[in-house]
Amino acid sequence: MSATLLLGPGPSNCPASVLDALSKDLVGHLDPRFINTMEACKEKLRKILHTKNAVTFPISGTGSAGMEAVLVNILEPGDTIVVGVNGVFGMRIANLAERYGATAIRVEEDWGKPMPYAALEAAVTEHKPKILAVVSGETSTGVYQNMDGLGDLAHNNGALLLADCVTSLAGMPVLLDEWGVDLMYSGTQKCLNCPPGLSPVSFSQRALDVFQNRKSLVPSFYLDLGEILKYIGDGLAKRAYHHTAPVSMVTALDAALDIVLEEGLEARWARHKDAQNYLFEKLAPLNIHPFVEEADRLWPLSTVTIPDGVDEAAVRTALLNDDNIELGGGLGPLAGKVWRIGLMGVNADRAVIDRFVDCLSAKL
Ligand SMILES: Cc1ncc(COP(=O)(O)O)c(C=O)c1O
Repeated sequence: MSATLLLGPGPSNCPASVLDALSKDLVGHLDPRFINTMEACKEKLRKILHTKNAVTFPISGTGSAGMEAVLVNILEPGDTIVVGVNGVFGMRIANLAERYGATAIRVEEDWGKPMPYAALEAAVTEHKPKILAVVSGETSTGVYQNMDGLGDLAHNNGALLLADCVTSLAGMPVLLDEWGVDLMYSGTQKCLNCPPGLSPVSFSQRALDVFQNRKSLVPSFYLDLGEILKYIGDGLAKRAYHHTAPVSMVTALDAALDIVLEEGLEARWARHKDAQNYLFEKLAPLNIHPFVEEADRLWPLSTVTIPDGVDEAAVRTALLNDDNIELGGGLGPLAGKVWRIGLMGVNADRAVIDRFVDCLSAKL
């Protein structure tokens, strides 16, 4: 059977050069050749994130490890965080912050809508949090967050701005410095077309100042930024072992970043937008429609309504069993109400969409 076509919320399919990189001969994690690969990844990540942040690197672990890393290094017991909650991943940020002893102020919005600026502004001015957190690309709903004004809002109130860019990175604009983002994490398994296993993270100088002024020990050994930087920080003459970096994954990420930069970000974003529009055009005759308003759509992840009378789980099972195509179901309040279709990286392609819609219409 041909490779599974991964059209769910991630992982996505990997190009051959990424798979080849994974199977290269191993080198040691303190070998200069690996250090060079890590340094190359950092530089390429800065480019695709549009940031000058020196502390930008792939942390070992999936997107949730990145989420945990940016929170655990900044928050201390008694701190406050304001979180925009309009889907699963805003909920997760709030939950993690509470595990580290912070008070999470949840600003709630309907699933399928972006966070309104005014609601975030009211919470930030009232609670003066240490962090204002939003999800740039909410994979559970297919919403892309408008970041206008959020950097100033956070900074004018003494807060750091956190953005979850797991699904937006390399599929839609992610402009860290322009947006004023201080804390960012992403994942390799979405629009970067790499397997799951690394989380690109970035810390601004403002965030590093807060980190350096912590009063308590970081309550995670594995994710302690100070320890990690002694291991893989820029310009280190001597690297101190902290953990064993996933060498093959970093090598694969390096290959994946080359593909992104070769295509060019603007072209890549446009391709994701075109793919989503084409998908909706093809689905309309099947009475399947977009769930999110056009202006708020996350191009790499489309949520669509399910036609009346269709057993959505049975369709997904049949697509996987018969056609080897993975499709995502809804989460939380959207379970049974939407499908989630990921067109990420290589899969943001009209021929892929034609194949998928043919198979789907046969099932319906
Ligand atoms: C927006 C968002 N944030 C965080 C995560 C968590 O990433 P992971 O599942 O790689 O741990 C995901 C995963 O799908 C996500 O979509």
